[in-house]
Amino acid sequence: MKLIVTKDYETMSVRAAEEIAKIINNKPDAVVGLATGSTPFEMYKELIKMNKQGTLDFSKVTTINLDEYIGLSPQHPQSYRFFMDENLFDHINIDKKNTFLPNGLAKNVDEEGKTYDNMIDSLGGTDIQLLGIGKNGHIAFNEPDEKLIAGTHMTKLTESTIKANARFFNSIEEVPKTAVTMGLGQIMKAKKILLIASGIDKAEAIKGLMSGKINTSNPSTMLQMHNDVILIADEDAVSLL
Ligand code: PGA
Repeated sequence: MKLIVTKDYETMSVRAAEEIAKIINNKPDAVVGLATGSTPFEMYKELIKMNKQGTLDFSKVTTINLDEYIGLSPQHPQSYRFFMDENLFDHINIDKKNTFLPNGLAKNVDEEGKTYDNMIDSLGGTDIQLLGIGKNGHIAFNEPDEKLIAGTHMTKLTESTIKANARFFNSIEEVPKTAVTMGLGQIMKAKKILLIASGIDKAEAIKGLMSGKINTSNPSTMLQMHNDVILIADEDAVSLL
């Protein structure tokens, strides 16, 4: 794993945007795995800036997102489809037909998961997968558990994740209790993984990730088995290393 430590959140965001841009500039029809959450927020602003300045072209790019809440429609302001449209897709020259998220309204989530994984495989897999990390080490909605699931699947959110995500909703009761998430097996198929982390809240999870041990109580530790991972983290996020 290659570790790049930046001074703060802003420099982490610029550095991460450069990694994504490098992939797209080398391969204009790249398949790019994206993530939601507060961590990638500024990085998306950087990508929008590059697109507006004419140094980054999304016209042939396909994007694949990691997860979606179950029960929220794409029009719901807290759905991940809404987040991606509002914070990236509506501001760049991407063809929205080439932007994919799991369907949170699917009647049969198991079927939806298989279809999603098959689609990613049929595109040739992702060239780069962006990831955030939860305070508890979760990756996408793969929460700490006795076992982890390889493919895209339905999952229950832990209390800690529901609490962490409540800040985006009017009340904690409104936070969906389930989500559909790409599994770690599918995530690990990405050719390259870019993990970004900022803030003291993530320091414990990053310590686990870098511990040299793999365990399902910190799902991010699985990433140690991938041979091309870049972790871009600010000084606070690596303060326990
Ligand atoms: P955050 O979430 O970027 O909002 O901190 C990351 C995650 O939970 O994966």
